[in-house]
This record gives sequence, structure tokens and C-alpha cells, in this order.
Amino acid sequence: MELGLVGKRAIITGASRGIGRACALGLAKEGVEVCIVSRTKMDLEQVISEIEAIGVRGYAVTEDLATAEGCRKVVQEAVRFLGGVDILINNVGAAQNGDILDLAREQIESALRLKSFSYLQMSQEVIPHMQLNRWGRIINIAGAAGTSPTRDNIPTASANILILNMTRALSDAVARDGILVNSICPGLTNTDRARTQQRPRAKKEGKNVEDLLLQLAGQIPAGRMAEPEEIANAAVFLASSACSYVFGSSIYMDGGQRRGTP
Ligand SMILES: NC(=O)c1ccc[n+]([C@@H]2O[C@H](COP(=O)([O-])OP(=O)(O)OC[C@H]3O[C@@H](n4cnc5c(N)ncnc54)[C@H](OP(=O)(O)O)[C@@H]3O)[C@@H](O)[C@H]2O)c1
Repeated sequence: MELGLVGKRAIITGASRGIGRACALGLAKEGVEVCIVSRTKMDLEQVISEIEAIGVRGYAVTEDLATAEGCRKVVQEAVRFLGGVDILINNVGAAQNGDILDLAREQIESALRLKSFSYLQMSQEVIPHMQLNRWGRIINIAGAAGTSPTRDNIPTASANILILNMTRALSDAVARDGILVNSICPGLTNTDRARTQQRPRAKKEGKNVEDLLLQLAGQIPAGRMAEPEEIANAAVFLASSACSYVFGSSIYMDGGQRRGTP
């Protein structure tokens, strides 16, 4: 399949590790110039050297995406480096979950501020650049928790459900401009975040976090966690010209864990 990605220009948020890093490397392998964002320069530089080893240009922008100013600067810098933007992968997220009975208002606010609000603002800032070429792809890495609330995951679930609603609304707003907006909802994925998220539960249950992850993976129909590269493969397809008739949709990549009809 011809993906038509050579020479395209992409921004990937939260790309110094995990799913964002895998998306940046996946796009670079298809000939996309990438601008990667996180708060930690050293980690970004490591990923840039991996991107350059593939033979394409990569740029790092160090900003805090929890602020409106940070999001604005990222797009400004990316346009300066790349000369425009064709693809945006919104991926940043670091919600602090906790039991609903003890949840502080700030835990939900900060999850929305970093994830939902940055996804919306980054989209709003790149859309005029995509409209110039009448071509664009926005991929929102949401999360299966968005439609599977539990007593423990309300900050993450709230941020993700807002993103799924925004995906539909943004898609309607720009579909006629050649811009496709879609989401991916990963389930448990083998990243640092999966470990950070499960550490409090592992401690409470007196378990090693790796053992707890194995136990959780065993409850997934697929029998294992996703690898970040598997999520990135779907993101690369959604970012491509081969993906030409998927509008405002969400792909669940949760190893079959979601209940309800597909
Ligand atoms: N892993 C899972 O099981 C899973 C499941 C469902 C959905 N997801 C979603 O997938 C996305 C990626 O998750 P992941 O597991 O790959 O996470 P991760 O390994 O923790 O990576 C998060 C990335 O975001 C960056 N980041 C965090 N806070 C930031 C901020 N304020 N400003 C700029 N960058 C920031 C981090 O770098 P710095 O800390 O250096 O800034 C890092 O590059 C998230 O939206 C997450 O909710 C993950």
C-alpha cells in the first residue's frame, strides 16, 4: 500500500518516550519530517538521534503543553522548522488518578488542562496551516478508559471522553478542507506511564508492579499488553494519504477488552 507520506511534516506531542516516541519513529520511517515535543530536552535529543539515524530531519521543542502559551509556542516553532504542518499527533497525557471518594478537584482539572485542552488548542493552531494545502491529518491518542469509567480512573476517563467528543466535532468542522480528524483508544500499553499508573495499586496490594502488569495483561482477551509500536502502526495509517475516508472515528486498540458491540 502506498502511504503517500514522503515529505510530509508532523508534530507529535509527548514524544520523548512511549507511544509518542513510537509514532515519531514510525512516521520518520515513512519519510516524514518530525517535530517532537516534551518537557525534557535530554530525552528529546535521544529520540532525535534515532530519527536522524533513519535518515530524515527531526526537531525537538521543549515546552510545557499544560499551558496555552506552551502550545502556541510549539506550533510557532514547528512551522519555523518545518515550513508548515501536515500531520498532528496529539499524544501527551499524564493524569493522576485516584479513588473517586478521595479525588481532589485539581486531579481532574490538571488531567483536562494537559490532555484535553492541549489537544484542542494544538488542533486549532495547526488547522489554518493544513487549510492552506487543503490536506491534513489530526490523530488524537485518547484511551479506552474514556468509555470505561471505574472508581479509580475518573481524571483519565474524563480527559479521554472529552477528546472523543472533540474528535467528532473537529472532524465535522474541517472535513471539507481535506483534513481528517480521528482518535485511537489504546488499552494497557507497555510504557513508563503504565507502570506509574499501576504503582499505587501494586503498593496497596503488596505486589511488584511488573507482576501486577502481568496479572492485568492476563485479563485482556489478547492475553498481553499492547506495545507502543502497535499503536504507532495505526497512527501512521491514520496519518497517511491511504487513509482517505475515515472521519471523526475512534479505533479501539485494547486487545479486545472493551465490552459492548464493536
Ligand atoms: N500506556 C498506557 O497504558 C496508555 C493507555 C491508554 C492511553 N494512553 C495514552 O497514551 C498517551 C501516551 O502515553 P504513554 O504511556 O506513552 O506515556 P509516557 O510514556 O508517560 O510518555 C508521556 C510523554 O508526555 C510527555 N509529557 C508529560 N507531561 C508533559 C507536559 N506537561 N508537557 C509536555 N510534555 C509532557 C513526557 O515527557 P516529559 O515528562 O519529559 O515532559 C513523555 O514524552 C497518553 O495520552 C496516555 O493517556 C496510554
